Amino acid sequence: MLCLGLETSCDDTGVALVRGGALVDSLLSSQADAHAIFGGVVPELASREHGRRLGPMLDALLERNNLLLRDLDLIAVTRGPGLLGSLLAGAAFAKGLALALEKPLIGVNHLHAHLLAAGLEQELVFPALGLVISGGHTEIYLLESPERFIRLGRALDDAVGEAFDKAGKAIGLPYPAGRQIDELATRGNPKTFAFPLAYVHNENLDFSFSGLKTAAVNCGVNLKPEQYPDFCASLNRAVAATLCRKAQRAFAAHPYARALYAAGGVAANSLVRARLQKLMDKSKKRLIMPSIPLCMDNAAMIAYAGSLLYDAGYEHGLELEAIPRGRKIPDDMRKRR
Ligand code: KG4
Ligand code: ZN
Repeated sequence: MLCLGLETSCDDTGVALVRGGALVDSLLSSQADAHAIFGGVVPELASREHGRRLGPMLDALLERNNLLLRDLDLIAVTRGPGLLGSLLAGAAFAKGLALALEKPLIGVNHLHAHLLAAGLEQELVFPALGLVISGGHTEIYLLESPERFIRLGRALDDAVGEAFDKAGKAIGLPYPAGRQIDELATRGNPKTFAFPLAYVHNENLDFSFSGLKTAAVNCGVNLKPEQYPDFCASLNRAVAATLCRKAQRAFAAHPYARALYAAGGVAANSLVRARLQKLMDKSKKRLIMPSIPLCMDNAAMIAYAGSLLYDAGYEHGLELEAIPRGRKIPDDMRKRR
């Protein structure tokens, strides 16, 4: 079973092939350059770029693997959450292929796919807890199986990556700033600036990073370049500590969970990775994280999650709807006949 995955939820265009649970090949085209001059993603520009890039990328991917369109057995596409125009560009392309090739179509939840991505590299275990930490989302899930996710908490305002990106902007770093903050932090003292641990003094599993974002921006704009490493290290520390507190609380509520999955761009952060690992070692649970390229937005995770859903007996029809950020993704997969 050869599954094509398409990812167009935000500003990266991705196409990938997965066969029998293993990655065959993938291509990713970042639009970061096109958006950098605006300091963030411009939705209109993103949809147009997806439309322009998808066809040539699919051609290139098939050609370099000596495959033809008719070799595809399944089309998997990100159906949300994301920017509506970007999602529609991917969904329309996927439907066109499914219709023309008379092959099944499956719509994939981008956040679930982030968590499942590690399955391309290691064995997945269930039940588990899952932390999605990206530029647009901060969510915590109970994972009962590859097709059954229960959301336990979410960002009430800004996502964790947004705090990194705006803090970076305040000290003149280009968008997206997370990776550069992480690098600068290696040379800094994390105890220099006492940033607030965001929204931990409560009983719930929701997140709020707008307070940390504001504190970091207000601090950052007044600093001299020699203070940037300390600033970045302090920010890393506040984020990692907050995520660990919430993860710990989730395990207290669901002690039977066997592992913690962490994924999304911010899971590439070295301190976040180290702190979560320490926490899991202490509680004798597994930490399941994709390698860094699979943490970021990519189509391999969409192809993989799509194949898991199809193998579990599900598919979508051509009525598949793209669901933008902020709207609940319906549980509308249909059982295959
Ligand atoms: O998952 P992703 O590629 O895209 C979505 O938002 O869906 O995540 C991008 C986010 C950006 O906010 C970026 O600054 C952040 O991940 N990021 C990092 C690191 N690498 C990327 N944040 C902290 N440390 C990193 N090493
Ligand atoms: Zn993502």
